[in-house]
Amino acid sequence: MIPFNKPYCSGRELSYIKEVCHSTTMSGNGDFTKLCHGFFEKHYGFKKCLLCTSGTDALEMCAMLCDLQPGDEVIVPSYTFVSTAIAFLREKAYVCFADSGSDNPNMTAEQIEPLINEKTKVIVVVHYAGVACDMDAIMALAEKHHLIVVEDAAHSVDSYYKGRPLGSIGHMAAFSFHETKNINCGEGGMFVANDERFIRRAEIIWEKGTNRAEFYRGMVNKYGWCDMGSSFLPSEFNAAYLWAQLEQLGDIQGQRRHIWERYDKALRGHLPEGFRLPDIPDYATNNYHMYYLLCPSLDVRTKLMDYLKNNGVQATFHYLPLHSSKYYEDKHDGRELPNCDRYADTLMRLPLFYELTDEEIDHITKLLLNFKL
Ligand SMILES: Cc1ncc(COP(=O)(O)O)c(C=O)c1O
Repeated sequence: MIPFNKPYCSGRELSYIKEVCHSTTMSGNGDFTKLCHGFFEKHYGFKKCLLCTSGTDALEMCAMLCDLQPGDEVIVPSYTFVSTAIAFLREKAYVCFADSGSDNPNMTAEQIEPLINEKTKVIVVVHYAGVACDMDAIMALAEKHHLIVVEDAAHSVDSYYKGRPLGSIGHMAAFSFHETKNINCGEGGMFVANDERFIRRAEIIWEKGTNRAEFYRGMVNKYGWCDMGSSFLPSEFNAAYLWAQLEQLGDIQGQRRHIWERYDKALRGHLPEGFRLPDIPDYATNNYHMYYLLCPSLDVRTKLMDYLKNNGVQATFHYLPLHSSKYYEDKHDGRELPNCDRYADTLMRLPLFYELTDEEIDHITKLLLNFKL
């Protein structure tokens, strides 16, 4: 069976983990954590980075920093992972779900604008498959209505919008380093603040509500409880694993690009009518996080996934609509979100991981081209 994903391990991870075993700091915020923070701040210009134990934790930090009051509203795409919404629901906000665009699963400013009212405080964008939302239009909308923009950049490491790194455009951002992501450490994530006004409180929330960061910088002679917080920081073992991956980022991205382009060359223009392939707008780069097909219908996707499975290939669908989920359907305002429903029914992801060979890619594309509706 060709699996959907196989987490990448460059080989250096083990030697860095061994270093942690022999060091005096195994908990969080040690040397490897600092190396990772420095890498992201230097390469992508993020103002403040804080590694987290997951992308979900990073989103929870973003939500806590928005200082939401009961009844405040947050606009979130329905076609996303549950964590994007849960982080804000935990803060007692009402989550107003937006539809996806027609060209790709991202939300558009045109879809967001009618949902804004006097209670709206935050827009959370998801750059699906690492392909940017149209951020100029969304940031202009946010500025006009004095809203905070959080980028859910879970898929988006090393991807750009008009030359600007994803995660550097909104007021805050959250990345994921879960094993399915381009760069991984098993479970992991990163909080990013690009707006000065969130940085001090972010450090406090990250360190269990204490000003330990200021103590370490010598700014105070003891540290104590200042605010709400949690234990969001990962151990040095995770950071060491992640650092080994970051050192190999160029190689990882190059290999993923090779795989993505081999799929695309074999499939674009060659699939039967009714199938569509990923759409990358001119303003966005591709970080080769995902290769997906849009099938003509749910029925066709089900048959295609079964056919691939019977021929040794594990393809997968992706998100289920959040607005009509069991947990949320009675809280949703009843609007139809047809594009979201369509992506939920028809999107199918192909295997994409570092060790996928050309022979395996060719086997998969041949199967797809031989599939009879
Ligand atoms: C869009 C999106 N946001 C957030 C998350 C949560 O990330 P994590 O699994 O690292 O908690 C995911 C998970 O894949 C995701 O796809």
